[in-house]
Amino acid sequence: MKNKVSIERQGKINNLDDLLNQFSISLRCHSHRVAVCSAIIAENANAFKNFFDIPAGMSLPVVAHLGGTCHDIGKLMLPALEARGDEYMKHPAMGADLLKKHKGVLFSNKPFAHMVIDIVRYHHEKADGTGFPEGLRSGDIPLIAGICSVANKLDHHMYSRHKHSGDAAKILKILETQVDKQFIECIWVCVERAWSRLAERYAVWNHLTYNHNRNES
Ligand SMILES: [Fe+2]
Repeated sequence: MKNKVSIERQGKINNLDDLLNQFSISLRCHSHRVAVCSAIIAENANAFKNFFDIPAGMSLPVVAHLGGTCHDIGKLMLPALEARGDEYMKHPAMGADLLKKHKGVLFSNKPFAHMVIDIVRYHHEKADGTGFPEGLRSGDIPLIAGICSVANKLDHHMYSRHKHSGDAAKILKILETQVDKQFIECIWVCVERAWSRLAERYAVWNHLTYNHNRNES
């Protein structure tokens, strides 16, 4: 069982891998999928580049990928990975605070660090203010966190061995009703542009999982 005390007391935070290596297999796989989807969505954001305030020399897909990789890092600090309710709702802030505290060693204080930390802190916020941890409304949520938020939702809908690529169009429609398109209109445009690539990825991930589980049973 991992928690804040054990992670920091063990003195293992020398680099990002020290934290990521503590992920469970399912958290590692989920984070990988969200990172890849975030990067694919960001790759289609060239026309909206100016909205994101990316530091010179850094690319939006790279920041989005890194944010997706780290977005649930706060789950390492929950008393139990399956914790829900109030405890579960603390994980974005716990993860962001941890990264902020150690950003010197984790990100060498690079100027993009605050964007990754924003992704971690705000990936569960919702445009109508019903999200957590801060209940921010659309204009106050950093746009970069919106990419990860959509990728995270996408993963919850698309990743299942019971779902297959044939459902992709239907899932896009469901997703469309769950995001505030006015707030993240530019992100939504990117999702639509990237849709065939995203659906292709999930067809592969679901196929591999389905076959693996079937072969194991
Ligand atoms: Fe999360």
